[in-house]
Amino acid sequence: MDCVAVINQKGGVGKTTTTVNIGAALAQHGKRVLLIDLDPQGHLTTHLGLDTLAQGRGTYEVLTKDLPLSEAIHAISPNISVLPAQIDLAAAEVELVSVVGREVILRDHLASLSDYDLAVIDCPPSLGVLTLNALAAASHVLIPLQPHFLALQGVGKLFETIRLVAGRINPGLRVAGMVMCMYEAGTRLAGEVIDDLQAYIEGSRGGSTPWRDALIFQTRIRRNVKLAECPSYGKSIFDYAPNCHGAADYLQLADELISVLSSVPRTAPTTPLPTSMPVVDRTSQTSAPRAAAAGKGKQPAAGPSA
Ligand SMILES: Nc1ncnc2c1ncn2[C@@H]1O[C@H](COP(=O)(O)OP(=O)(O)OP(=O)(O)O)[C@@H](O)[C@H]1O
Ligand SMILES: [Mg+2]
Repeated sequence: MDCVAVINQKGGVGKTTTTVNIGAALAQHGKRVLLIDLDPQGHLTTHLGLDTLAQGRGTYEVLTKDLPLSEAIHAISPNISVLPAQIDLAAAEVELVSVVGREVILRDHLASLSDYDLAVIDCPPSLGVLTLNALAAASHVLIPLQPHFLALQGVGKLFETIRLVAGRINPGLRVAGMVMCMYEAGTRLAGEVIDDLQAYIEGSRGGSTPWRDALIFQTRIRRNVKLAECPSYGKSIFDYAPNCHGAADYLQLADELISVLSSVPRTAPTTPLPTSMPVVDRTSQTSAPRAAAAGKGKQPAAGPSA
């Protein structure tokens, strides 16, 4: 089973929206999809209208009380099932502190499943033990980003964490790519940020990092009010407004992701792993002045940043 962790420790960049809607898009492609809510905010669970189902039988109980996944997963359509979460999951960070092997609990539970083609994990906006569980279980990482300069600030730290997990726990881990969310075409800054990110990724080709084959996905998820509305109806975009831009964008992104999942990873050369991540330094030297000159260097109000 492929397992895609949707990660960015920056808040409000589109992780939950992407998890729900790419999961639903993949289900439309006939994939049997398991959506996993690994965020104590429980936004994925709320988005799909499952709040009451999470009580006593959700991610928290699976991670801390060894509840079998089969007792915590809820089918919401023929091709989509959900492992829900609620605020009690926040306690798992503390409760697991002294547990040996705490980073691989989710991975070990998922190994018992055979009913799904793919799991998609919605991660919290932090790099704690919950996100480490996602990285240990995942085959691929999908990074939603808002194309603003400050949105790149945490990418170096995220890549460093991915590199460590790949080196120590999960050697097969690959960064599938980055997807621009809440994209507004025509802004110069967005184009500059994407160019800088593309140049960095191209510089990693042929290396041994988990992001050596990463894409900047061609699909941009455009800002679309229907995507913001559908959580309040407990629906994915395909059930709420199947003809809107948001639905089209996530269907196209699913096509790109399927291609990545079915591609054979290039073998890493035997050169040593780099010891530092240049992303943050590089962008702060090159993009910052340009972003500032453009007068658009501020991160939009988008939720708490970790
Ligand atoms: N393409 C889009 N167009 C319009 N609104 C969007 C779009 N994508 C996400 N949103 C809205 O932006 C807000 C943040 O999105 P989302 O909850 O997916 O981010 P997140 O990264 O999961 O946040 P957190 O870090 O808090 O978990 C939500 O209100 C969501 O409905
Ligand atoms: Mg979220």
